[in-house]
Amino acid sequence: MNLKGRNFITLLDFTSEEIQDLINLAAKLKYEKYDSIPHKHLTDKNVVLLFQKDSTRTRCAFEVGAMDLGMGATYLGPTGSQMGKKESVKDTARVLGKMYDGIEFRGYLQQDVETLAEYAGVPVWNGLTDQYHPTQILADFLTIQEKLGSLKGLKFTYLGDARNNMGNSLMIGCAKMGMHFYAAAPEALWPKQELIDKCNLIAQETGATLNFTTDPMKATYHADVLYTDVWVSMGEPKEVWESRIQELHPYQVDMKLLKNAKPTAIFMHCLPAFHGDNTEVGAQIASEFGQQFPKVKFGELEVTDDVIESKQSVVFEEAENRMHTIKAVMLATLSDLYV
Ligand code: CP
Ligand code: NVA
Repeated sequence: MNLKGRNFITLLDFTSEEIQDLINLAAKLKYEKYDSIPHKHLTDKNVVLLFQKDSTRTRCAFEVGAMDLGMGATYLGPTGSQMGKKESVKDTARVLGKMYDGIEFRGYLQQDVETLAEYAGVPVWNGLTDQYHPTQILADFLTIQEKLGSLKGLKFTYLGDARNNMGNSLMIGCAKMGMHFYAAAPEALWPKQELIDKCNLIAQETGATLNFTTDPMKATYHADVLYTDVWVSMGEPKEVWESRIQELHPYQVDMKLLKNAKPTAIFMHCLPAFHGDNTEVGAQIASEFGQQFPKVKFGELEVTDDVIESKQSVVFEEAENRMHTIKAVMLATLSDLYV
């Protein structure tokens, strides 16, 4: 594999082999970190992390990953830089590209990360847009590989808003890696037909299948992986909560759905997750909508607390793997590395 100079803005741009190579490189870097084997391969480099939206995992993964590789990292948060307010994305790209060796971007528009990639002259990595979240998928797939051995042929079920950044990216990832992707959601929350068509073409090559249903029992039956995400994503107005709960409460991942999957099934979530009333938003939703929708009365939204705390849940290992996989993406795109 030689990905030097490449951007990482959607998995659509990568072959199945390249995705597998990145996952394997991440596994190697993880092993090196655990065994304290030095891997400061990029000591003379610096990266900048541009965040228009909040983050815990992605920011920390990029910062720790960069430091482990010997790089310097600058964080520019939702406030405090000129981007978008006094300076266009195109100008920002040309400025930062002169100072840094790589740029991470988390924001709203996929177009913005594409503009950065077009004008920066250095690799640009997508740390989440409204449309895609590709670094998350590498972490998810590394976790599946660790837990279940391999990816190809697995039944992967996603419940919830299947046309958000996670639904879109997981569908692409499953198509690329020959997995059987099931989305359980009301039809209005299925991915756009244009993206489904694109993924179906990929699936024909890899042996994957893409399946869409409104029936959560059918989708979870004998599944290898159950995956969910928040019902309202960053950037959406809080007014959509009521209709989203209305649409998605039948898809809350609870013990009944988990038991309907294989006994060896794992539960995954990109996090952050609402599984109780011990967060501001969880408590607010519980008090505002708990009466009307008994399922959410304890602030358990997309997943119940017993599922996320169960032995089948791998969410924290999945979160750890963000770091190893993001490190792999930076290393592969910034160096002449052949694996
Ligand atoms: N999964 C994920 O991207 O988490 P953060 O929003 O904390 O970065
Ligand atoms: N769909 C979620 C993912 C968070 C990692 C969001 O965009 O808020």
